[in-house]
Amino acid sequence: MPGLESHLVIRFLLPLFMILGHLSLLGATQLITAAHLTIHRRGGALADREPANLTQLVDLLHDVERRYSRVKREVKGNKLVRSWRARSTGATNDEQLLAEPGKEGRWYTNLPVGPQPNTIEVDLDMLSPDFYTVQTTSGKGSQYNVFSETHVPNDARVHPLCKHPSDTIHLTDLKNTTSVTISLPMCSPSRSSRATLFKSGSVLGLSPSSSSSSSSLSRLDSPPLLQQLLSAELLTDDIFSLTLLDSTSGILSLGGTLARQAEEASTRTQVEMDSIGDPAATTETISGKVNDRLAATFPADIEDQYRWAPIRGAAEGWWTTLLPGLWINGLKMLKNQPVLLDIQSPFILAPPLAARRIYESIGGCSRLAVPYDMFWKFPCLNRPKIMLEFGGWFFPLMSSQGGHDEAVWGPGGGRLSLGKLSMGGNGTSSGYCVGRVVETRMGLQSREDIDWEGSGLRDVWVLGEPAFWGVGVVFDRQRQRVGFRNY
Ligand SMILES: *[C@@H]1O[C@H](CO)[C@@H](O)[C@H](O)[C@H]1NC(C)=O
Ligand SMILES: *[C@@H]1O[C@H](CO)[C@@H](O)[C@H](O)[C@H]1NC(C)=O
Ligand SMILES: *[C@@H]1O[C@H](CO)[C@@H](O)[C@H](O)[C@H]1NC(C)=O
Repeated sequence: MPGLESHLVIRFLLPLFMILGHLSLLGATQLITAAHLTIHRRGGALADREPANLTQLVDLLHDVERRYSRVKREVKGNKLVRSWRARSTGATNDEQLLAEPGKEGRWYTNLPVGPQPNTIEVDLDMLSPDFYTVQTTSGKGSQYNVFSETHVPNDARVHPLCKHPSDTIHLTDLKNTTSVTISLPMCSPSRSSRATLFKSGSVLGLSPSSSSSSSSLSRLDSPPLLQQLLSAELLTDDIFSLTLLDSTSGILSLGGTLARQAEEASTRTQVEMDSIGDPAATTETISGKVNDRLAATFPADIEDQYRWAPIRGAAEGWWTTLLPGLWINGLKMLKNQPVLLDIQSPFILAPPLAARRIYESIGGCSRLAVPYDMFWKFPCLNRPKIMLEFGGWFFPLMSSQGGHDEAVWGPGGGRLSLGKLSMGGNGTSSGYCVGRVVETRMGLQSREDIDWEGSGLRDVWVLGEPAFWGVGVVFDRQRQRVGFRNY
């Protein structure tokens, strides 16, 4: 029962989530095993109980696709890599770089910086390795404090728009908190540019590119955050993982995962339930039993805690792999599909033929009329069981049992739904819901604002936020692979 499992993990991980929000910063420099940071979706969940707003969904889809069109394939050395398209206008004001932080609907973390617990909102970016903060004069967004006593200015340029100061950040592995000085490139638009009206904010690049100097996706000449933490010997493993608690919050773990904490919390609950009415049970005997059970059932090695898939794709630079199988209601509908993992897409984007296969096998579905024809509707009461197959295991995609699950993950219609489709002007529900699996014409139809030439994205899926629900995903740059675990 996947629904029940994800219900449980939310309960188990919620206390950790609360702790993370209220750590006092002791500032002691101690080794940590992994750095855990809470993440949030700006502006809340995409779909709520309101009927789907199709105009808004189309805009959002174009916005998501536009991000993928900014990169093309290129031969570098003897490899095919992804690199930024040359900017067509204004080389001095890299508006894409400055416009990236602070957007609605993006997942971000609160990073504690400076002597006081002064957090900055840092947007996750799985498509680039760059870590930087943007300072504009608009007064909007989340501003980094340059007046703090730990801010060390450095006017050396790592990009025509970015200086190279450093500051102290604070990280915790839930037991120990540690402080470390990192370089935090600070980018500002030139005075007369329209980019001065953009939001202030920060970006945490998490793409699998290696060191910034050799990465064709990097626009700054400074190391990614994870690499800095490894160089400082604060962390030892070049991995990070994402664990969503619901459709608005979760945990980003740098250098490690939450697999053990989740397993321990769930084992503890079982042991406590079993001990109800046992007068001999004490905190110590319960902890002892929890440890015994974990020792017997939970593998010590990350190798065995996850199911792995190697990074594969038409070009290096993003988290792409091959999905061996996609199953619907117990039948394998598609195999060996190229996929890109990106939590910042609120949809599952499927190539046209694949989207059609999926909705035809669900039954009772149809494509919406132009101009909404990238979206499909399905009967809200029809709850297909969609499974992703990785490493010989099955991972439920958006399957829903209704009830609690539905309240946590989305609107009526279950997890597959982006909202109900209303019948017309009078707000009556049609009994149909708009599907989260959206047809993408990436790589096929260029438009005036999107150029797919050389993108290599034809037939590529995007496994966005919904693919992260109820599973733990670990990204291993060192061994160029991605791991999945059911929660
Ligand atoms: C974390 O802190 C505890 C107590 O302060 C210490 O014993 C332990 O060694 C620290 N952990 C690491 C990995 O340094
Ligand atoms: C739907 O979204 C559009 C664009 O975001 C917005 O202008 C419009 O007011 C929304 N309509 C409703 C009924 O909320
Ligand atoms: C709403 O509109 C639909 C079709 O446009 C119609 O069938 C239905 O009766 C209307 N409902 C109300 C309450 O007016």
